[in-house]
Amino acid sequence: MFTIGIETSCDETSCAVLKNDKVLSNVTLSSLRQHKKYGGVIPEIATRAHLKNIDKVFTVSLKEAGIILHDIDLIAVTNKPGLMGALVIGLNFAKALAVSLNKPLIGINHLHAHIFAPFLNNARRIKFPFIGLIVSGGHSEIYLVNDFDKMRLVGATRDDACGEVYDKIARFLGLGYPGGPVIDKLFEEKYKDAFKFKCGRVGFDLSFSGIKTAVIYKKEEIAKKEKITPDIIKRLISSFQASAMNTITRTVVEAAEEYKVKRIVCGGGVIANRYLRRKLCEQESAGFKIILPSFEYTTDNAAMVAGLGFYLYNKKGIQHDIGKLEAEPN
Ligand code: KG4
Ligand code: ZN
Repeated sequence: MFTIGIETSCDETSCAVLKNDKVLSNVTLSSLRQHKKYGGVIPEIATRAHLKNIDKVFTVSLKEAGIILHDIDLIAVTNKPGLMGALVIGLNFAKALAVSLNKPLIGINHLHAHIFAPFLNNARRIKFPFIGLIVSGGHSEIYLVNDFDKMRLVGATRDDACGEVYDKIARFLGLGYPGGPVIDKLFEEKYKDAFKFKCGRVGFDLSFSGIKTAVIYKKEEIAKKEKITPDIIKRLISSFQASAMNTITRTVVEAAEEYKVKRIVCGGGVIANRYLRRKLCEQESAGFKIILPSFEYTTDNAAMVAGLGFYLYNKKGIQHDIGKLEAEPN
């Protein structure tokens, strides 16, 4: 069975082809460069880029997979959450495919797809229940996952998402966009306690807005007294990263303890972060099983959408009515 996955929720136009659970192609074109000068994703620019690129990306994904249009058996598309205009481009493209090929259509929650990413290519056996951790540009969430159609939200961010704060801090410090990969690279362990930054938490909910403000104020305070050197920047971002990532790790472990599960499955752009991956993996010595996606499936991609689509259709018999499936931005 061939599944085509379509992902246009933010700034990546992505199409992937799976043969059962194996990824045959995963083609992504990002409009990231066009957003760089604004320091964040501009919805109008992202939407126009999807419109311009989607048929190209789709055609290349079929070609790389070595299949033709009529080989497609199932169409999986991200219909939530994301930028409204961006979602609509992918969703309407998927609907047109489903109508013209007379094939089933399934709408996919982008965040749930991030949690599916580690299971692509049958890399690991899917065993429930587990705790799902999503740390991305738009969301920081913890789920109790009894199945991929039985996901219970147990913790979320109360304000900014973690990736968003990486991007904002990087922009403020003049490090460019996106901030995550730059901060990841500049991070130095020896500076992790240079400043006392504290990341907020209420139960399993997280708050990153306070730590963002604290970093900004600290830099301004220092700038009044001395020149901001690259070394000071490293101290600031290392202290920020250590505090944020240690809080995430502690919170997800406590959620796993609360719900008495040993497995923690992670996904989302920030899961590419080397320090976070290390801190999470250290929890294995306490008996937890940490399941991470490979780097290529951490940031937004259509393979994870196709993978979850195939699972839900095949194992759960889920498909959606073409006329009723809508884009849901939040
Ligand atoms: O999951 P994703 O591709 O898009 C959303 O669904 O939001 O995540 C993008 C976010 C950006 O905020 C980016 O700065 C962050 O992931 N990111 C990282 C790293 N690579 C990407 N954050 C920390 N460390 C990284 N290595
Ligand atoms: Zn994402």
